[in-house]
Amino acid sequence: MEAVLTRGYPEWTLRLRTGNVSGNTKGPMTRRLEDLRSRRWYAEQGMRGFAHRQRMQQMGLRRDDVLTRPIIGIVNTWSDLSPCHAHLRERAEAVKRGVLMAGGMPFELPAMSLGEVMVKPTTMLYRNFLAMETEELLRSHPIDGAVLLGGCDKTVPGMWMGAISMGIPALLCPAGPMLNDRHQGRVVGAGTHTRMFWDERQAGRIDAAEWVQLESRMTRSPGTCNTMGTASTMTSMVEALGLALPGSTSIPAMDAAHPRMAADCGARIVQMVWDDLTPQRILSRGSFLNAVAVQMALGGSTNAAVHILAMARRAGIALSLDDLDRVARRVPVLANLFPSGEGLMEDFYYAGGLPALMQRIRDELSLDELTVSGQALRVQVEAARIIDDNTIRPLERPISDRPALAVLRGNLAPEGAVMKPSAATPALMQHRGRALVFDSQAQMQAALADESLDCDETSVLVLRNAGPVGAPGMPEWGGLPIPKKLLARGVRDMLRISDARMSGTHYGSCVLHASPEAAVGGPLALVRNGDEIEVDMAQRRLHLHVPDDELARRRAAWVAPVQPFQRGWTQLYQRHVMQAHEGADLDFLTGTAPTPEPSIY
Ligand code: FES
Repeated sequence: MEAVLTRGYPEWTLRLRTGNVSGNTKGPMTRRLEDLRSRRWYAEQGMRGFAHRQRMQQMGLRRDDVLTRPIIGIVNTWSDLSPCHAHLRERAEAVKRGVLMAGGMPFELPAMSLGEVMVKPTTMLYRNFLAMETEELLRSHPIDGAVLLGGCDKTVPGMWMGAISMGIPALLCPAGPMLNDRHQGRVVGAGTHTRMFWDERQAGRIDAAEWVQLESRMTRSPGTCNTMGTASTMTSMVEALGLALPGSTSIPAMDAAHPRMAADCGARIVQMVWDDLTPQRILSRGSFLNAVAVQMALGGSTNAAVHILAMARRAGIALSLDDLDRVARRVPVLANLFPSGEGLMEDFYYAGGLPALMQRIRDELSLDELTVSGQALRVQVEAARIIDDNTIRPLERPISDRPALAVLRGNLAPEGAVMKPSAATPALMQHRGRALVFDSQAQMQAALADESLDCDETSVLVLRNAGPVGAPGMPEWGGLPIPKKLLARGVRDMLRISDARMSGTHYGSCVLHASPEAAVGGPLALVRNGDEIEVDMAQRRLHLHVPDDELARRRAAWVAPVQPFQRGWTQLYQRHVMQAHEGADLDFLTGTAPTPEPSIY
C-alpha cells in the first residue's frame, strides 16, 4: 500500500510506503501488537494493569483505545512565553488527528519551552535539562513512539538528545519559520537586523520614534526566526539526518501546509512504530556528515557545532570538530539567506526548500541513508525541484568564497574554536592586534559604552568566563558589541574572541567556543590587555604572541573564578557540563550506556 504526501508550494510529491520499511540496506522489521512497549502498562493482567486501564477510562477513553493501538507521545514545547511556538497547541491537535486516522492513540506531554529571547541567562543552560526531561518523559510513560514539537534554537537539539537516548521511534514536527518582514520597503530578518539597527541607533542614525516602530515591525507572525539562525539550521540538519519528513522544516509556520504537515507527522509515526524505525536505525556517521554538509551549504549557525557533536555522542557516532572543518572546506554556502546572504526562510521555501538544496550538493551526500520516510535520502533528493536559482545558488555561483565554518586551533584554543567566515569581514580573516580583555559580560558592557576606552579598529576584543561552566551555560555573548566610540566613527566589525557562543542570526568576525574555556583554566584565562593575538583563517590558526615561559608564570598565578551557585540545576550543570568541543552535554547523559525499562509495579 502506498500513500502520497503532497506539500503546498512548491508542489512536490513524495511516495511513502506505509508497509514495511523498504528501499534501505537495514532490512524490514515489522512489530506486532504484543510487541508494543505500552502493553507492559495496559495489557498487564494484575492489579497494576487494572489501574492503568481504569485511569484511562477515567478520562473517557475506551478500554480498547489503549489496548489495541500504538500509544504516541506528543512532546510539546509550547508556552505562553515562547512566541516562536505560539501555534504549537493547535499543531498538536493536527498531529493528534494524523495519529488517530492512522490507528494510533495520541497523548500530549508538555515539556520545558525554551523561548530563546525570554529565558535567562541563556536557553543553552537548559538544553540538557530539556534533553533529560524528554528522555525521562518518554521512558516513564507508556509511549511507543514520539512526535517532537518544537523549533526555537535549543528545543530541537535538546529534545533529540533525549529522544536518541530513549531510542523509541520518533520524528520532529518543526515549528516552522515566521513570515517575511519588511521595514520601509526593505526586507528585514529577525535577529540579524536587530543588531544592525541597534548599531545604527548607537551611532545616532535611527531616532527614538523609528526605534519604537521597529519593535512592532520585525517579527510578523508566530514561528521561529526567519533568518538562517540556529533554529532553521538545526531543524534543517535534523531533516538531513533523516529525522523529519522530507521538506517539512522549510514550511512557514503560518502556511496552510504547516498543519497538513503536522497531521502527516502524526500519521507517519504510527507506521514507524509498527516498523520499529528507531533513531538508532536511522542515524549513522553518513547521516551526521549529511547534516554537516547541509549546515555548510545553508551558511548555518555556528551553534550547530555544539549541538551536532552532542547529538552524535548520544547516538554513539564518532564526529569531531575536524570533521566539520573538512566538510566546510568542500561545501560552499549556496543558500542566499541572512546573515550570510540576503533572503529569508519564506524565500527558501518558495525556492524549493531543503530537498532542493540537498539536490544541489548531492555529490557531497551519502544518499543511501535511511530517513523517517522509510526510504533512502536519495528518494527525496531526486524528487526535489529547484525553483529559484538566486535563493538556492548553483555550485559555481556560491554566496561567498569563504566557508560557513572554520575550526581554529593554537595556543589560545588547543581543543578548537569556531568562526563563521562567510558572515565575517574578509580583511579580518588574517589579523594581528592588541587584546582588550573583559572578565565578565557586565564589565564588557560598561567598558564598551565608555567613549574614552583605549582601543581602535585593530584591537582584538576578548571576553572570557562565558563558556559552559563560566557563564554558566555558554550564552550568546560572543558577538561582542563594537565600542560605542568606534561605532560613531563608522566601524562595524572588529576581531572578537570568546569562549561564548554567538546567535546564529548575527554576523561579524567572531572567534567562538574557545576550548577549553577560561573558567576551567583554558588559555583564554591567561590573556592580558595589550597582548598580541593573531588569527590566520587560511591556516586555521589562533595564536597568542606571549612566550611559553611567561604563560607558565601566569598559569601558576591563575585563580579559578568563584562559582556562586550552591544549589539546584545550575550547580548540577556546572559540576557535570563538558566542554564545547565535546558538545557541552552533561557527562552522565552523554554516550550510549543503556537505561533499563522502568518497573511498572
Ligand atoms: Fe526562537 Fe529565534 S527566537 S527561533
